Amino acid sequence: MPFSDRRYLIPFRATLLPQIFTDVLVVGAGVAGCSAALSAVRHHGSAEVIVTTKGRLKDSSTYWAQGGIAAVLDHVEDDVEKHIADTLTAGAGLCDEPTVRRVVENGPARLNELIEAGLRLDREANGDLKLGREGGHSQKRIVHADGDATGKALAATLFDAVRASERVRLFEDCFVLDLITTGDKPGQVPGGECVGAITHHPKYGLQVIWARSVILAAGGCGMVYRETTNPSAATGDGLAMAYRAGAVLQDMAFVQFHPTTLYIAGASRALITEAVRGEGAVLVDKSGHRFMPDYDERADLAPRDIVSRSILDQMVKTGHSHVYLDVRPIGIERFHERFPGIAKLLKQFDIDPATTPIPVHPSAHYMIGGVAVDDQTRSSVPGLYACGEASCSGLNGANRLASNSLLEGMVFGEVAGRACLERLEENAVGDPTLNTARPFKIISDIRPSDRSELDLADVRSSLRSVMWRHVGIEREGDRLAEVLDMFDFWATYTLDKIFDERLGWEVQNLLTIGSLITRAAHWRQETRGTHYRLDYAESADAYHLHDQWRIGDSSPTTAAVAEQVVQ
Ligand code: SIN
Repeated sequence: MPFSDRRYLIPFRATLLPQIFTDVLVVGAGVAGCSAALSAVRHHGSAEVIVTTKGRLKDSSTYWAQGGIAAVLDHVEDDVEKHIADTLTAGAGLCDEPTVRRVVENGPARLNELIEAGLRLDREANGDLKLGREGGHSQKRIVHADGDATGKALAATLFDAVRASERVRLFEDCFVLDLITTGDKPGQVPGGECVGAITHHPKYGLQVIWARSVILAAGGCGMVYRETTNPSAATGDGLAMAYRAGAVLQDMAFVQFHPTTLYIAGASRALITEAVRGEGAVLVDKSGHRFMPDYDERADLAPRDIVSRSILDQMVKTGHSHVYLDVRPIGIERFHERFPGIAKLLKQFDIDPATTPIPVHPSAHYMIGGVAVDDQTRSSVPGLYACGEASCSGLNGANRLASNSLLEGMVFGEVAGRACLERLEENAVGDPTLNTARPFKIISDIRPSDRSELDLADVRSSLRSVMWRHVGIEREGDRLAEVLDMFDFWATYTLDKIFDERLGWEVQNLLTIGSLITRAAHWRQETRGTHYRLDYAESADAYHLHDQWRIGDSSPTTAAVAEQVVQ
Protein backbone atom coordinates (compact mmCIF):
# COMPACT_ATOMS: atom_id res chain seq x y z
CA MET A 1 0.00 0.00 0.00
CA PRO A 2 1.72 3.22 -1.11
CA PHE A 3 0.07 5.14 1.72
CA SER A 4 1.73 3.09 4.46
CA ASP A 5 5.16 2.47 2.99
CA ARG A 6 6.75 5.56 4.45
CA ARG A 7 7.16 6.43 8.11
CA TYR A 8 8.87 9.74 7.30
CA LEU A 9 8.76 11.97 4.23
CA ILE A 10 12.52 12.35 4.04
CA PRO A 11 15.65 10.42 5.02
CA PHE A 12 17.55 11.78 8.05
CA ARG A 13 19.71 10.92 11.01
CA ALA A 14 18.20 12.89 13.84
CA THR A 15 21.35 13.29 15.89
CA LEU A 16 23.27 14.71 12.93
CA LEU A 17 20.82 17.55 12.33
CA PRO A 18 20.86 20.85 14.23
CA GLN A 19 19.07 20.24 17.55
CA ILE A 20 16.65 22.45 19.47
CA PHE A 21 15.18 21.48 22.84
CA THR A 22 11.94 22.49 24.49
CA ASP A 23 9.41 21.19 26.99
CA VAL A 24 6.35 21.69 24.82
CA LEU A 25 6.25 21.96 21.04
CA VAL A 26 3.05 23.41 19.63
CA VAL A 27 2.56 22.90 15.88
CA GLY A 28 0.26 25.68 14.66
CA ALA A 29 -0.38 29.26 15.73
CA GLY A 30 -4.14 29.69 15.38
CA VAL A 31 -6.55 30.00 18.27
CA ALA A 32 -5.95 26.43 19.47
CA GLY A 33 -2.15 26.57 19.24
CA CYS A 34 -1.77 29.97 20.89
CA SER A 35 -4.26 29.05 23.63
CA ALA A 36 -2.35 25.82 24.28
CA ALA A 37 1.00 27.60 24.50
CA LEU A 38 -0.33 30.24 26.89
CA SER A 39 -2.03 27.60 29.00
CA ALA A 40 1.17 25.54 29.31
CA VAL A 41 3.08 28.60 30.47
CA ARG A 42 0.32 29.62 32.87
CA HIS A 43 0.02 26.19 34.46
CA HIS A 44 3.68 25.41 34.79
CA GLY A 45 6.12 27.76 36.48
CA SER A 46 9.05 26.94 34.21
CA ALA A 47 7.78 25.20 31.06
CA GLU A 48 9.48 26.39 27.87
CA VAL A 49 7.29 26.35 24.77
CA ILE A 50 7.99 26.61 21.05
CA VAL A 51 5.13 27.47 18.69
CA THR A 52 5.69 26.84 14.99
CA THR A 53 3.70 28.12 12.04
CA LYS A 54 4.42 27.16 8.46
CA GLY A 55 3.83 30.67 7.16
CA ARG A 56 3.39 33.97 8.94
CA LEU A 57 1.07 34.41 11.91
CA LYS A 58 -1.59 35.93 9.66
CA ASP A 59 -1.84 32.81 7.53
CA SER A 60 -3.99 30.82 9.97
CA SER A 61 -7.66 29.99 9.46
CA THR A 62 -8.27 31.71 12.79
CA TYR A 63 -6.97 35.00 11.45
CA TRP A 64 -9.23 34.64 8.41
CA ALA A 65 -12.39 33.83 10.40
CA GLN A 66 -15.09 36.42 9.80
CA GLY A 67 -17.76 34.75 11.82
CA GLY A 68 -17.82 34.82 15.51
CA ILE A 69 -17.65 32.90 18.69
CA ALA A 70 -20.75 31.14 20.00
CA ALA A 71 -21.21 31.38 23.75
CA VAL A 72 -24.13 31.60 26.16
CA LEU A 73 -23.92 35.16 27.46
CA ASP A 74 -27.61 36.05 27.59
CA HIS A 75 -29.11 34.33 30.60
CA VAL A 76 -32.68 35.49 29.97
CA GLU A 77 -33.51 34.01 26.56
CA ASP A 78 -30.63 31.54 26.33
CA ASP A 79 -29.01 28.88 28.50
CA VAL A 80 -26.30 26.24 28.12
CA GLU A 81 -28.85 23.47 27.58
CA LYS A 82 -30.10 25.26 24.44
CA HIS A 83 -26.59 25.69 23.06
CA ILE A 84 -25.87 22.02 23.82
CA ALA A 85 -29.11 20.95 22.13
CA ASP A 86 -28.35 23.03 19.01
CA THR A 87 -24.83 21.55 18.81
CA LEU A 88 -26.18 18.01 19.15
CA THR A 89 -28.85 18.61 16.51
CA ALA A 90 -26.30 19.90 14.01
CA GLY A 91 -23.98 16.98 14.86
CA ALA A 92 -26.60 14.47 13.60
CA GLY A 93 -26.04 11.80 16.25
CA LEU A 94 -22.23 11.69 16.28
CA CYS A 95 -21.44 14.31 18.94
CA ASP A 96 -20.03 13.08 22.23
CA GLU A 97 -22.40 14.77 24.63
CA PRO A 98 -19.97 15.14 27.59
CA THR A 99 -17.54 16.93 25.25
CA VAL A 100 -20.28 19.23 23.96
CA ARG A 101 -21.31 20.06 27.51
CA ARG A 102 -17.75 20.78 28.54
CA VAL A 103 -17.09 23.15 25.63
CA VAL A 104 -20.40 24.97 25.98
CA GLU A 105 -20.07 25.31 29.77
CA ASN A 106 -16.45 26.49 29.66
CA GLY A 107 -16.83 28.80 26.66
CA PRO A 108 -18.04 31.93 28.46
CA ALA A 109 -15.18 31.77 31.01
CA ARG A 110 -12.55 31.41 28.26
CA LEU A 111 -14.15 34.29 26.38
CA ASN A 112 -14.08 36.49 29.47
CA GLU A 113 -10.38 35.72 29.95
CA LEU A 114 -9.73 36.88 26.40
CA ILE A 115 -11.79 40.02 26.94
CA GLU A 116 -9.68 40.72 30.02
CA ALA A 117 -6.57 40.13 27.89
CA GLY A 118 -7.75 42.87 25.52
CA LEU A 119 -10.11 41.24 23.00
CA ARG A 120 -12.49 43.99 21.87
CA LEU A 121 -15.84 42.59 20.84
CA ASP A 122 -18.71 44.52 19.29
CA ARG A 123 -21.05 46.05 21.87
CA GLU A 124 -24.48 47.66 21.98
CA ALA A 125 -24.80 51.34 22.87
CA ASN A 126 -25.45 50.34 26.51
CA GLY A 127 -22.17 48.41 26.65
CA ASP A 128 -23.67 44.91 26.45
CA LEU A 129 -22.04 42.53 23.98
CA LYS A 130 -23.89 42.44 20.66
CA LEU A 131 -25.26 38.97 20.06
CA GLY A 132 -25.94 37.68 16.54
CA ARG A 133 -27.58 34.56 15.17
CA GLU A 134 -26.34 32.04 12.62
CA GLY A 135 -27.65 28.86 11.01
CA GLY A 136 -28.64 26.08 13.40
CA HIS A 137 -28.70 28.35 16.49
CA SER A 138 -32.03 28.69 18.25
CA GLN A 139 -30.90 31.88 20.00
CA LYS A 140 -28.78 34.94 19.39
CA ARG A 141 -25.46 33.95 20.95
CA ILE A 142 -22.66 34.81 18.50
CA VAL A 143 -20.21 37.56 19.39
CA HIS A 144 -18.15 39.34 16.76
CA ALA A 145 -15.32 41.84 16.53
CA ASP A 146 -15.31 44.70 14.03
CA GLY A 147 -18.43 43.24 12.44
CA ASP A 148 -16.84 40.59 10.26
CA ALA A 149 -13.25 40.39 11.48
CA THR A 150 -13.59 38.31 14.64
CA GLY A 151 -10.69 35.98 13.86
CA LYS A 152 -8.34 38.86 13.20
CA ALA A 153 -9.14 40.48 16.56
CA LEU A 154 -8.93 37.17 18.43
CA ALA A 155 -5.64 36.27 16.77
CA ALA A 156 -4.18 39.71 17.51
CA THR A 157 -5.03 39.33 21.22
CA LEU A 158 -3.46 35.88 21.35
CA PHE A 159 -0.36 36.91 19.35
CA ASP A 160 0.24 39.83 21.72
CA ALA A 161 0.05 37.49 24.71
CA VAL A 162 2.30 34.89 23.07
CA ARG A 163 4.87 37.54 22.08
CA ALA A 164 4.78 38.98 25.59
CA SER A 165 5.63 35.64 27.18
CA GLU A 166 9.32 35.13 27.82
CA ARG A 167 8.85 31.39 27.81
CA VAL A 168 7.23 31.07 24.39
CA ARG A 169 9.41 31.12 21.28
CA LEU A 170 7.60 31.66 18.00
CA PHE A 171 9.05 30.07 14.84
CA GLU A 172 7.44 31.52 11.71
CA ASP A 173 8.03 30.02 8.24
CA CYS A 174 8.81 26.76 9.99
CA PHE A 175 7.39 23.81 8.07
CA VAL A 176 6.97 20.73 10.23
CA LEU A 177 7.58 17.70 8.03
CA ASP A 178 7.07 14.91 10.51
CA LEU A 179 6.56 14.07 14.13
CA ILE A 180 9.36 11.95 15.52
CA THR A 181 8.40 8.82 17.43
CA THR A 182 10.69 6.41 19.24
CA GLY A 183 9.04 3.27 17.80
CA ASP A 184 10.62 1.82 14.67
CA LYS A 185 7.34 1.60 12.83
CA PRO A 186 4.18 3.67 13.12
CA GLY A 187 1.60 2.20 15.41
CA GLN A 188 4.17 0.27 17.48
CA VAL A 189 2.94 1.63 20.76
CA PRO A 190 3.62 1.18 23.62
CA GLY A 191 7.23 1.85 22.97
CA GLY A 192 6.62 4.51 20.38
CA GLU A 193 6.30 7.95 21.93
CA CYS A 194 6.22 11.31 20.24
CA VAL A 195 9.45 13.08 21.18
CA GLY A 196 9.61 15.99 18.77
CA ALA A 197 9.50 16.94 15.12
CA ILE A 198 11.62 17.39 12.01
CA THR A 199 11.26 20.91 10.66
CA HIS A 200 12.39 22.90 7.66
CA HIS A 201 13.02 26.62 7.53
CA PRO A 202 13.99 28.36 4.28
CA LYS A 203 16.93 30.01 6.03
CA TYR A 204 18.02 27.37 8.54
CA GLY A 205 17.21 24.20 6.57
CA LEU A 206 16.33 20.98 8.38
CA GLN A 207 16.29 20.97 12.17
CA VAL A 208 15.06 18.68 14.92
CA ILE A 209 12.98 20.09 17.75
CA TRP A 210 13.03 17.66 20.66
CA ALA A 211 10.12 18.10 23.07
CA ARG A 212 8.69 16.36 26.12
CA SER A 213 5.19 16.81 24.67
CA VAL A 214 3.94 17.84 21.28
CA ILE A 215 0.59 19.56 20.72
CA LEU A 216 -0.76 19.36 17.22
CA ALA A 217 -2.87 22.42 16.43
CA ALA A 218 -2.07 22.62 12.75
CA GLY A 219 -5.63 23.20 11.49
CA GLY A 220 -7.43 21.57 8.59
CA CYS A 221 -7.08 20.59 4.98
CA GLY A 222 -9.40 22.76 2.85
CA MET A 223 -6.78 22.85 0.08
CA VAL A 224 -7.60 19.25 -0.71
CA TYR A 225 -10.63 20.75 -2.52
CA ARG A 226 -10.58 22.99 -5.58
CA GLU A 227 -13.08 25.36 -3.94
CA THR A 228 -12.22 26.33 -0.38
CA THR A 229 -12.50 29.20 2.05
CA ASN A 230 -9.24 28.12 3.73
CA PRO A 231 -5.87 29.85 3.50
CA SER A 232 -3.39 28.21 1.11
CA ALA A 233 -1.49 26.84 4.10
CA ALA A 234 -4.34 24.42 4.91
CA THR A 235 -2.85 21.38 3.18
CA GLY A 236 -3.57 18.85 5.93
CA ASP A 237 0.09 18.56 6.97
CA GLY A 238 -0.78 18.06 10.65
CA LEU A 239 -3.27 15.32 9.93
CA ALA A 240 -0.91 13.54 7.54
CA MET A 241 2.09 13.67 9.88
CA ALA A 242 -0.02 12.38 12.78
CA TYR A 243 -1.24 9.50 10.60
CA ARG A 244 2.33 8.60 9.59
CA ALA A 245 3.29 8.68 13.27
CA GLY A 246 0.64 6.06 14.05
CA ALA A 247 -2.08 8.30 15.50
CA VAL A 248 -5.70 7.29 15.02
CA LEU A 249 -7.67 9.61 12.71
CA GLN A 250 -11.41 9.66 13.19
CA ASP A 251 -14.58 10.52 11.23
CA MET A 252 -12.64 11.61 8.17
CA ALA A 253 -15.67 11.58 5.85
CA PHE A 254 -17.06 14.68 7.51
CA VAL A 255 -16.01 17.89 5.78
CA GLN A 256 -18.16 20.97 6.17
CA PHE A 257 -19.00 23.00 3.08
CA HIS A 258 -19.84 26.64 3.63
CA PRO A 259 -22.80 27.72 1.49
CA THR A 260 -21.71 31.24 0.69
CA THR A 261 -18.32 32.12 -0.70
CA LEU A 262 -17.85 34.87 -3.21
CA TYR A 263 -18.03 33.39 -6.71
CA ILE A 264 -16.03 35.42 -9.17
CA ALA A 265 -13.98 33.54 -11.74
CA GLY A 266 -10.30 33.91 -10.96
CA ALA A 267 -10.81 35.46 -7.51
CA SER A 268 -10.04 33.49 -4.37
CA ARG A 269 -13.10 32.07 -2.65
CA ALA A 270 -13.60 34.71 0.02
CA LEU A 271 -16.11 33.80 2.68
CA ILE A 272 -19.35 35.73 2.96
CA THR A 273 -20.07 35.07 6.59
CA GLU A 274 -23.23 33.28 7.61
CA ALA A 275 -23.90 36.21 9.92
CA VAL A 276 -25.04 38.08 6.79
CA ARG A 277 -27.93 35.63 6.50
CA GLY A 278 -28.29 35.84 10.27
CA GLU A 279 -28.99 39.56 9.81
CA GLY A 280 -31.64 38.93 7.16
CA ALA A 281 -29.94 38.48 3.76
CA VAL A 282 -31.58 35.88 1.51
CA LEU A 283 -30.40 33.52 -1.20
CA VAL A 284 -31.93 34.00 -4.64
CA ASP A 285 -31.35 32.28 -7.97
CA LYS A 286 -30.53 33.99 -11.25
CA SER A 287 -34.17 34.88 -11.84
CA GLY A 288 -34.42 36.47 -8.40
CA HIS A 289 -36.47 33.64 -6.88
CA ARG A 290 -35.91 33.19 -3.14
CA PHE A 291 -35.48 29.42 -3.12
CA MET A 292 -34.48 28.36 0.41
CA PRO A 293 -38.09 28.25 1.75
CA ASP A 294 -38.76 25.63 -0.98
CA TYR A 295 -36.18 23.35 0.64
CA ASP A 296 -36.40 23.82 4.41
CA GLU A 297 -38.70 25.60 6.84
CA ARG A 298 -35.66 27.27 8.45
CA ALA A 299 -35.00 28.73 5.00
CA ASP A 300 -31.73 30.67 4.76
CA LEU A 301 -30.79 29.76 8.33
CA ALA A 302 -31.04 26.00 7.93
CA PRO A 303 -27.82 24.10 8.86
CA ARG A 304 -24.97 24.52 6.37
CA ASP A 305 -25.20 21.05 4.81
CA ILE A 306 -28.84 21.66 3.88
CA VAL A 307 -28.19 25.14 2.51
CA SER A 308 -25.16 23.95 0.50
CA ARG A 309 -27.08 21.05 -1.06
CA SER A 310 -30.07 23.27 -1.79
CA ILE A 311 -27.80 25.71 -3.60
CA LEU A 312 -26.35 22.88 -5.71
CA ASP A 313 -29.84 21.69 -6.52
CA GLN A 314 -30.99 25.15 -7.50
CA MET A 315 -27.89 25.60 -9.67
CA VAL A 316 -28.82 22.40 -11.53
CA LYS A 317 -32.46 23.51 -11.87
CA THR A 318 -31.47 26.91 -13.23
CA GLY A 319 -28.46 25.69 -15.23
CA HIS A 320 -26.33 28.39 -13.60
CA SER A 321 -22.86 28.15 -12.03
CA HIS A 322 -23.85 29.97 -8.83
CA VAL A 323 -26.64 31.69 -6.91
CA TYR A 324 -26.82 35.12 -5.29
CA LEU A 325 -27.03 36.59 -1.83
CA ASP A 326 -29.35 39.57 -1.65
CA VAL A 327 -28.35 41.74 1.30
CA ARG A 328 -31.00 44.44 0.71
CA PRO A 329 -33.39 43.02 3.34
CA ILE A 330 -30.76 43.98 5.94
CA GLY A 331 -30.76 47.62 4.74
CA ILE A 332 -27.73 48.81 2.80
CA GLU A 333 -26.57 51.27 5.42
CA ARG A 334 -26.77 48.63 8.12
CA PHE A 335 -24.99 46.11 5.86
CA HIS A 336 -22.04 48.50 5.44
CA GLU A 337 -21.92 49.25 9.14
CA ARG A 338 -22.24 45.62 10.26
CA PHE A 339 -19.97 44.01 7.64
CA PRO A 340 -17.27 46.54 6.74
CA GLY A 341 -14.78 43.90 5.57
CA ILE A 342 -17.20 42.32 3.13
CA ALA A 343 -18.36 45.73 1.90
CA LYS A 344 -14.73 46.61 1.16
CA LEU A 345 -14.18 43.30 -0.63
CA LEU A 346 -17.25 43.84 -2.83
CA LYS A 347 -16.05 47.32 -3.71
CA GLN A 348 -12.79 45.83 -4.97
CA PHE A 349 -14.85 43.83 -7.47
CA ASP A 350 -17.15 46.73 -8.34
CA ILE A 351 -20.16 44.99 -6.83
CA ASP A 352 -22.67 47.43 -5.38
CA PRO A 353 -24.89 45.34 -3.08
CA ALA A 354 -27.59 48.03 -3.27
CA THR A 355 -28.19 47.13 -6.90
CA THR A 356 -26.46 43.77 -7.46
CA PRO A 357 -26.87 40.64 -5.33
CA ILE A 358 -23.56 38.99 -4.39
CA PRO A 359 -22.63 35.94 -6.54
CA VAL A 360 -22.05 33.01 -4.19
CA HIS A 361 -21.30 29.30 -4.30
CA PRO A 362 -20.46 26.67 -1.63
CA SER A 363 -16.83 25.81 -0.80
CA ALA A 364 -14.99 23.40 1.50
CA HIS A 365 -14.71 25.16 4.83
CA TYR A 366 -13.92 23.00 7.84
CA MET A 367 -12.52 19.53 8.53
CA ILE A 368 -14.70 17.90 11.14
CA GLY A 369 -12.71 14.67 11.35
CA GLY A 370 -9.17 14.64 12.65
CA VAL A 371 -6.82 13.18 15.22
CA ALA A 372 -8.92 11.20 17.70
CA VAL A 373 -8.38 12.58 21.20
CA ASP A 374 -9.63 11.77 24.68
CA ASP A 375 -11.03 14.31 27.13
CA GLN A 376 -7.48 15.48 27.92
CA THR A 377 -6.69 15.98 24.20
CA ARG A 378 -4.37 12.93 24.25
CA SER A 379 -4.03 11.17 20.91
CA SER A 380 -3.37 7.44 20.62
CA VAL A 381 0.40 8.17 20.48
CA PRO A 382 1.88 8.89 23.93
CA GLY A 383 3.31 12.40 24.06
CA LEU A 384 1.14 13.65 21.19
CA TYR A 385 -1.84 15.88 21.98
CA ALA A 386 -4.18 17.54 19.49
CA CYS A 387 -6.69 20.39 19.61
CA GLY A 388 -8.68 22.66 17.32
CA GLU A 389 -9.50 21.73 13.74
CA ALA A 390 -6.69 19.15 13.59
CA SER A 391 -8.41 17.11 16.28
CA CYS A 392 -11.63 15.16 16.44
CA SER A 393 -12.81 15.77 19.98
CA GLY A 394 -16.43 14.70 19.61
CA LEU A 395 -17.78 18.26 19.77
CA ASN A 396 -18.84 18.52 16.16
CA GLY A 397 -20.21 15.07 15.43
CA ALA A 398 -21.18 14.79 11.78
CA ASN A 399 -21.66 18.53 11.26
CA ARG A 400 -20.27 21.52 13.13
CA LEU A 401 -22.61 24.17 14.45
CA ALA A 402 -21.68 27.64 13.14
CA SER A 403 -19.21 29.60 15.28
CA ASN A 404 -18.39 26.64 17.52
CA SER A 405 -14.89 26.28 16.06
CA LEU A 406 -13.11 29.28 17.60
CA LEU A 407 -14.89 28.28 20.81
CA GLU A 408 -13.50 24.75 20.57
CA GLY A 409 -9.98 26.05 19.93
CA MET A 410 -10.17 28.32 22.97
CA VAL A 411 -11.48 25.61 25.29
CA PHE A 412 -9.44 22.61 24.15
CA GLY A 413 -6.30 24.68 23.53
CA GLU A 414 -6.39 25.50 27.21
CA VAL A 415 -6.98 21.83 28.12
CA ALA A 416 -4.10 20.67 25.88
CA GLY A 417 -1.65 23.17 27.38
CA ARG A 418 -2.51 21.94 30.86
CA ALA A 419 -2.78 18.23 30.03
CA CYS A 420 0.56 17.94 28.23
CA LEU A 421 2.35 19.05 31.38
CA GLU A 422 1.68 15.60 32.84
CA ARG A 423 4.72 14.49 30.82
CA LEU A 424 6.88 17.08 32.55
CA GLU A 425 5.64 16.08 35.99
CA GLU A 426 6.20 12.34 35.40
CA ASN A 427 9.97 12.35 35.59
CA ALA A 428 10.28 15.24 37.98
CA VAL A 429 9.13 12.92 40.76
CA GLY A 430 11.94 10.42 40.22
CA ASP A 431 14.93 12.00 38.59
CA PRO A 432 14.58 15.73 37.92
CA THR A 433 17.51 15.63 35.49
CA LEU A 434 15.30 13.57 33.17
CA ASN A 435 12.79 16.36 33.17
CA THR A 436 13.99 17.83 29.90
CA ALA A 437 13.68 16.90 26.26
CA ARG A 438 16.54 14.72 25.06
CA PRO A 439 17.76 13.50 21.70
CA PHE A 440 17.10 9.98 20.38
CA LYS A 441 19.05 8.13 17.74
CA ILE A 442 16.30 8.04 15.12
CA ILE A 443 17.23 7.13 11.58
CA SER A 444 14.95 7.43 8.58
CA ASP A 445 16.55 5.38 5.86
CA ILE A 446 14.65 5.87 2.61
CA ARG A 447 16.03 4.98 -0.78
CA PRO A 448 15.29 7.25 -3.71
CA SER A 449 12.80 5.64 -6.08
CA ASP A 450 13.62 5.03 -9.72
CA ARG A 451 9.98 5.20 -10.84
CA SER A 452 9.26 8.05 -13.21
CA GLU A 453 8.06 11.30 -11.72
CA LEU A 454 4.60 12.82 -12.15
CA ASP A 455 4.14 16.54 -12.66
CA LEU A 456 3.57 17.70 -9.08
CA ALA A 457 1.55 20.79 -9.95
CA ASP A 458 -0.67 18.68 -12.17
CA VAL A 459 -1.21 16.02 -9.49
CA ARG A 460 -2.09 18.77 -7.02
CA SER A 461 -4.63 20.45 -9.25
CA SER A 462 -6.12 17.16 -10.51
CA LEU A 463 -6.60 15.79 -7.02
CA ARG A 464 -8.26 19.00 -5.86
CA SER A 465 -10.66 18.92 -8.82
CA VAL A 466 -11.49 15.27 -8.36
CA MET A 467 -12.12 15.77 -4.65
CA TRP A 468 -14.43 18.68 -5.40
CA ARG A 469 -16.39 16.82 -8.08
CA HIS A 470 -16.72 13.41 -6.45
CA VAL A 471 -15.89 13.66 -2.74
CA GLY A 472 -17.58 17.01 -2.17
CA ILE A 473 -21.10 17.96 -1.15
CA GLU A 474 -22.64 14.92 -2.87
CA ARG A 475 -20.96 11.50 -3.06
CA GLU A 476 -21.73 8.18 -4.67
CA GLY A 477 -20.12 4.76 -4.11
CA ASP A 478 -18.90 3.94 -7.66
CA ARG A 479 -17.40 7.38 -8.10
CA LEU A 480 -15.66 7.17 -4.74
CA ALA A 481 -14.17 3.82 -5.74
CA GLU A 482 -12.85 5.38 -8.97
CA VAL A 483 -11.32 8.24 -7.01
CA LEU A 484 -9.58 5.74 -4.72
CA ASP A 485 -8.02 4.06 -7.77
CA MET A 486 -6.80 7.45 -8.98
CA PHE A 487 -5.30 8.19 -5.57
CA ASP A 488 -3.51 4.85 -5.55
CA PHE A 489 -2.05 5.59 -8.96
CA TRP A 490 -0.88 9.09 -8.00
CA ALA A 491 0.46 7.80 -4.70
CA THR A 492 2.55 5.11 -6.38
CA TYR A 493 4.40 7.76 -8.35
CA THR A 494 4.43 10.55 -5.77
CA LEU A 495 4.71 9.06 -2.28
CA ASP A 496 7.82 7.11 -3.32
CA LYS A 497 9.78 10.28 -4.05
CA ILE A 498 12.04 12.29 -1.78
CA PHE A 499 11.38 15.99 -2.13
CA ASP A 500 13.41 18.84 -0.74
CA GLU A 501 10.83 21.61 -0.89
CA ARG A 502 7.34 22.41 0.35
CA LEU A 503 5.33 21.82 -2.80
CA GLY A 504 6.43 18.18 -2.85
CA TRP A 505 5.75 17.61 0.86
CA GLU A 506 2.39 19.36 0.64
CA VAL A 507 1.30 17.26 -2.33
CA GLN A 508 2.31 14.11 -0.45
CA ASN A 509 0.21 15.28 2.52
CA LEU A 510 -2.75 16.27 0.31
CA LEU A 511 -2.67 12.83 -1.29
CA THR A 512 -2.61 11.08 2.07
CA ILE A 513 -5.49 13.08 3.48
CA GLY A 514 -7.56 13.18 0.28
CA SER A 515 -7.31 9.42 0.10
CA LEU A 516 -8.36 9.03 3.75
CA ILE A 517 -11.38 11.30 3.29
CA THR A 518 -12.37 9.28 0.23
CA ARG A 519 -11.88 5.93 1.96
CA ALA A 520 -13.98 7.05 4.91
CA ALA A 521 -16.67 8.44 2.59
CA HIS A 522 -16.71 5.16 0.64
CA TRP A 523 -16.91 3.09 3.83
CA ARG A 524 -19.77 5.12 5.36
CA GLN A 525 -22.76 3.81 3.42
CA GLU A 526 -25.28 6.27 4.78
CA THR A 527 -26.09 9.97 4.75
CA ARG A 528 -25.36 11.85 7.94
CA GLY A 529 -24.53 15.50 8.65
CA THR A 530 -22.11 16.83 6.04
CA HIS A 531 -21.68 13.38 4.44
CA TYR A 532 -24.33 13.01 1.74
CA ARG A 533 -24.42 9.75 -0.24
CA LEU A 534 -26.67 9.81 -3.29
CA ASP A 535 -26.78 6.00 -3.17
CA TYR A 536 -27.57 5.81 0.59
CA ALA A 537 -29.77 8.82 1.18
CA GLU A 538 -30.77 7.97 4.78
CA SER A 539 -28.90 7.72 8.08
CA ALA A 540 -28.34 4.12 9.16
CA ASP A 541 -28.12 2.83 12.74
CA ALA A 542 -25.26 0.55 11.67
CA TYR A 543 -23.16 3.69 11.11
CA HIS A 544 -24.06 5.44 14.32
CA LEU A 545 -20.42 5.21 15.37
CA HIS A 546 -17.03 6.80 14.91
CA ASP A 547 -14.79 5.29 12.24
CA GLN A 548 -11.10 5.22 13.15
CA TRP A 549 -8.23 4.92 10.69
CA ARG A 550 -4.68 3.78 11.44
CA ILE A 551 -1.79 3.62 9.01
CA GLY A 552 -1.45 0.16 7.52
CA ASP A 553 -5.11 -0.77 7.97
CA SER A 554 -7.26 -1.06 4.86
CA SER A 555 -10.53 -0.67 6.75
CA PRO A 556 -11.41 1.26 9.89
CA THR A 557 -12.11 0.09 13.39
CA THR A 558 -15.12 1.64 15.04
CA ALA A 559 -15.80 3.29 18.37
CA ALA A 560 -19.12 3.93 20.10
CA VAL A 561 -20.48 7.46 20.31
CA ALA A 562 -20.64 8.70 23.92
CA GLU A 563 -24.17 8.49 25.21
CA GLN A 564 -26.43 11.47 24.59
CA VAL A 565 -28.53 12.49 27.52
CA VAL A 566 -29.98 15.55 25.83
CA GLN A 567 -32.06 14.97 22.68
C1 SIN B 1 -19.02 32.20 9.03
O1 SIN B 1 -18.69 33.31 9.37
O2 SIN B 1 -20.00 31.97 8.37
C2 SIN B 1 -18.12 31.07 9.42
C3 SIN B 1 -18.15 30.84 10.86
C4 SIN B 1 -17.90 29.42 11.15
O3 SIN B 1 -17.38 28.70 10.31
O4 SIN B 1 -18.29 28.96 12.22
